[in-house]
Amino acid sequence: MARVLVTGGTGYIGSHTVVELINAGYDVAIVDNLSNSNINVLDGIEKICGVRPPFENIDCNDYENMDRLFGKYPDIVAVIHFAASKAVGESVEKPLMYYRNNIGSLITLLELMKVHKVQNIVFSSSCTVYGQPDILPVDENAPIKPALSPYGNTKQINEEIIRDTAHSDSNLHAILLRYFNPIGAHPSAEIGELPNGVPQNLLPFVTQTAAGLRKELKVFGNDYNTSDGSCIRDYINVVDLAKAHVVAVRRMLDKKATEQVEVFNLGTGRGLSVLEILNTFIKVTGVNVPYQIVGRREGDIEKVWANPDKANNVLGWKAQETVEDTLLSAWHWQEKLMGK
Ligand code: UD1
Repeated sequence: MARVLVTGGTGYIGSHTVVELINAGYDVAIVDNLSNSNINVLDGIEKICGVRPPFENIDCNDYENMDRLFGKYPDIVAVIHFAASKAVGESVEKPLMYYRNNIGSLITLLELMKVHKVQNIVFSSSCTVYGQPDILPVDENAPIKPALSPYGNTKQINEEIIRDTAHSDSNLHAILLRYFNPIGAHPSAEIGELPNGVPQNLLPFVTQTAAGLRKELKVFGNDYNTSDGSCIRDYINVVDLAKAHVVAVRRMLDKKATEQVEVFNLGTGRGLSVLEILNTFIKVTGVNVPYQIVGRREGDIEKVWANPDKANNVLGWKAQETVEDTLLSAWHWQEKLMGK
């Protein structure tokens, strides 16, 4: 059976993708240095799938150990590369750490893929590459805007590194997946998002505030040019997102890709404001979330949502879950974390 190497496989999107790969019949191998995830995630995956995936605690920048890993699993046919640092604010403070982690790991992987004749890679990119798009919904042909943070820059640079490498090597195939805003957790509540310290992203902050762990949510700005003045994003269920990776891997293995490097937006096509998310969360859970409107957060985009037509029509993937069920899944995961 074909094995997929999942870097960052104990992370938020990585762990949900490992579950969907196993459910679809793939063998996997996880590599993660646990810098922003927990080894217990493997228990959650095992509970859901009945299989404990092989795990290697290696930094993807570590060429020798990564080389050994590829040697240990000669049946690897594709790599899904999630492993990366992802906090926008931290990347502004520690740009070199971000460039080394995010760019170095991709270079190491691509070098070793060539050595070990692994020809397929799925890369975790982000809608951040579009900046504030001129046209909404934004499709894959929209121009790439100057990055607003070192984190965003690593996504742009990595997309270019993959394109250049593919250009030089006709055997290499890549699918770049540009995620919008992943939220929610597995419906079993066995795996979910595990933010390190104070959450920077909206949903984990909402669920922690609902749980009483945080005093109040700060809503960053209500003076944007949107219906209620708060920012708009395209929130996508993490299991839906995970399933797109399985489709992408299958597409490459079945040699169905029409270009050597393909790009797909992964979003729902629907934009929701911060206040809409908050009010829907309160409605479906019946739990209050104290909040305060504060000033804008530096670097925030006013509004962005996807045109997912290409993923729908070419990849044959479509987001299925409702935002209500997705918000409930995030809450059930939070309750599980609190031992309820
Ligand atoms: C950000 C990055 C994105 C990155 C993602 C990774 C920017 C512009 N985008 O997405 O590139 O892939 O993080 O984690 O930096 N909000 C609040 N209060 C909070 C937290 C968030 O009001 O406590 C608002 C934000 O202003 C924003 C929305 O909620 O409007 C979503 O924020 P967040 O979850 O941080 O995601 P992005 O900023 O969209």
